[in-house]
Amino acid sequence: MPVLSKRLEEELNRQISKEFEAAYSYFAAAVYCKSRSLNGFAHWFESQAAEEIQHGVKLTQFLLDLGKKIVPLPLAQPRFDFSSLQEVFELSLKNETDFADRYNELSGLALSDHDNITYNFLNWFLTEQVEEIALFTDVLCKIRMVGEEGSALFLLNDELARQRSSATAPLT
Ligand SMILES: [Fe+2]
Ligand SMILES: [Fe+2]
Repeated sequence: MPVLSKRLEEELNRQISKEFEAAYSYFAAAVYCKSRSLNGFAHWFESQAAEEIQHGVKLTQFLLDLGKKIVPLPLAQPRFDFSSLQEVFELSLKNETDFADRYNELSGLALSDHDNITYNFLNWFLTEQVEEIALFTDVLCKIRMVGEEGSALFLLNDELARQRSSATAPLT
C-alpha cells in the first residue's frame, strides 16, 4: 500500500497554509489586545501564533521526509477589526474546532487509504486539537465571567501572561 496518496499530499500541503493562516489570525488577535493595553492577552496570542507556525513546520517536514514537494499557497487575510475580547475568543475557538474537524477528516482519508504512516503522524494533531479546544474554551468561559473591563479582567490579563510564558517560550 503506497504511503501518502496524491490527494492526501495535496490536502497536507493545503493544511500547511491553513496553519500559517491560523498564526496570522492570532497575530491579528494580539494586535487587537495590544490596542486595548491587554498585553497579557496579546502575549498569549503571540505564543499561540508561534505554535501554529510550528504546526506548519511539522507538516512541511513530514512531506519533505517523504520526498514530496512543498507548494506554497497564498494566505487569506485575517480579520483585524473586533468589537470585543469575547468576539476574538469565539472566533478563535471556532477556528480550533474547525481544525479538529479538518484533522479528523485527513486522518479518515489516511485510514481509508490504509496509510498507517500518515495516520500515525496525524494522531499528534488530533490530540493537539483537543488540548487547544479545551484551552480556548477555558479562557472564553473566564471572559464571560469577568466581562470586558474592570479589575477582574486586569487579573485575568495577568494570569494569561504567566500561563503562556511558562508553557511556551515567549516570542522575541
Ligand atoms: Fe495548529
Ligand atoms: Fe491551534
